[in-house]
Amino acid sequence: MADPHRASSGTGLDVDAVRADFPVLERQVHGHPLVYLDTAASAQRPRQVIEAMDDYYRRYNANIHRGVHTLSQEATEAFEQARRRVAEFINAPAAGEVVFTRGTTESINLVAQSFARPRLAPGDEVLITHMEHHSNIVPWQILCEQTGAELQVAPINDRGELEVDTMVAMMTEQVRMIGIVHVSNALGTVNPVAKVCHEARQRGIPVLVDGAQATPHMPVDVQALGCDFYCFSGHKMYGPTGIGALWAPLETLVAMPPYQGGGEMISVVSFEGTTYNEPPAKFEAGTPHIAGGIGLGAAVDYLESLGMDNVAASEAQLLDYATESLSAIEGLRIVGTARAKAGVISFTMDGIHPNDIGTIIDHYGVAIRTGHHCAMPAIRLFGLPATARVSLGIYNTRQEIDRLVEALISAARLFA
Ligand code: ALA
Repeated sequence: MADPHRASSGTGLDVDAVRADFPVLERQVHGHPLVYLDTAASAQRPRQVIEAMDDYYRRYNANIHRGVHTLSQEATEAFEQARRRVAEFINAPAAGEVVFTRGTTESINLVAQSFARPRLAPGDEVLITHMEHHSNIVPWQILCEQTGAELQVAPINDRGELEVDTMVAMMTEQVRMIGIVHVSNALGTVNPVAKVCHEARQRGIPVLVDGAQATPHMPVDVQALGCDFYCFSGHKMYGPTGIGALWAPLETLVAMPPYQGGGEMISVVSFEGTTYNEPPAKFEAGTPHIAGGIGLGAAVDYLESLGMDNVAASEAQLLDYATESLSAIEGLRIVGTARAKAGVISFTMDGIHPNDIGTIIDHYGVAIRTGHHCAMPAIRLFGLPATARVSLGIYNTRQEIDRLVEALISAARLFA
């Protein structure tokens, strides 16, 4: 039977049907229907995710992996089913290769401290790109401080595209680890991650991919990418906050030491010494965010019911429309014009600070993000302290882009 959310053309989504699944889109802000264009910061949640979490709390709330009673077993099965669904979503070879974390940030810190730290010594290098988000910069800086290694940064051009040949040339024998963002949250650039991974693999350099802005918007296949680690967050992909995942091949996870100690990650504990559980449990110390895991599984089910190819096609059409509409506004400059882009448009307007743009258009019910987008080096490279940023999701429409444009023109008039 045809999925009601898929457009009959098969090249996009029935956005009206999608919108009906998101209760928050019914609300008004300052007397206007909400236009939510801040999905890159945090997506809204469909009722399917909200209901899955509500159902856990109402009907089978219990701790997991610890109880012989029915509620605990039901909760364990739901949590582990979510892990299986997440693994399928990114085409991981096995569910046991998916570690639930608090999100992308914790996943990257885990890899930096558990995998990379024992491998680094003074004189070694960690290579990242100039468009990284703070969560793929600071954990490596901390690691470099701890080990005496150096952070190297591959350049980007004035369109906001990675200079891939330069990055490949920087993959010297000193480089022991690479971190690269799949899709830039500040510029929208989609990086040629498979190529970077291929080049790194030939040189024996492990690659971590920050997929926080990719998993909500495009099909992701960790095996086809050829990466060593893939990290993402539930709340960017229509799931809950406080939950995300790290994927790595089982043999890598087996060889890595624990990141945090506590319950669940152990096998046998005595005062003389402790043996550790198998992955992924080895990296999931303490009671996890059980409802979050279940909610993330529901978000994956939801996205897969839409079809990630349809999501990507629908958002690409809307990105073209939004780019054209915003470009027509006098004095508006788009920052980040990569040829391969996902649904993010950063921009400035003559004579108005980005924060003022955001505050004024909020009064028209339009929500965007303003500031450095937790990617200060990328924004500063363009000589700017801040931009305004529109980010698209599966529920956005052309009519909403028209409302954005009207609100921006009104804001410009106030400062004329
Ligand atoms: N990284 C998030 C953003 O892009 C918070 O807004």
